[in-house]
Amino acid sequence: MAAATVDTETLVKDVVARYADARAGLIPILQDIQAALGYISPQALRALERETGISANEAYGVATFYTQFRFTAPGKHRIQVCNGTACHVRAAARITEELCRYLGVAVGGTTPDGEFSLERVACLGCCALSPVLTVDGKVYAGVTPKKMQRILKEYGFERKAGKS
Ligand code: FES
Repeated sequence: MAAATVDTETLVKDVVARYADARAGLIPILQDIQAALGYISPQALRALERETGISANEAYGVATFYTQFRFTAPGKHRIQVCNGTACHVRAAARITEELCRYLGVAVGGTTPDGEFSLERVACLGCCALSPVLTVDGKVYAGVTPKKMQRILKEYGFERKAGKS
């Protein structure tokens, strides 16, 4: 991802140019923007409004309807916790809850230092290993709250003193 080097205005213009009808193609346009930037930024929504006439509010409203879109910049390390059926029956919700508490972010959020972002995703395709999470694409199987803490430590996450 090259968020820092991408000129959002140009990027949005290029994306919109690929679609004959921006309104009909709004979801793929938003997907392309997210693929390039890592998220749907307010700047991108404003650029989209200038390019297409679709108001930033309207595009945001449409995007929030879909769980695939995120609205904060992804962290340096991207954590995806599976909430597919197999993982769900093996306490994925509890793992997700623990991750939120431990990192101090909500699902879809990024830690204030920009190091970790947390996403809830559908089946990652390795159900036999459930419950599963990935960090930067690396799969961790049979995750428990304790194991989750060890995994985060591997990536340099240190729990701040005073938090349990
Ligand atoms: S449900 Fe989690 S990997 Fe399939």
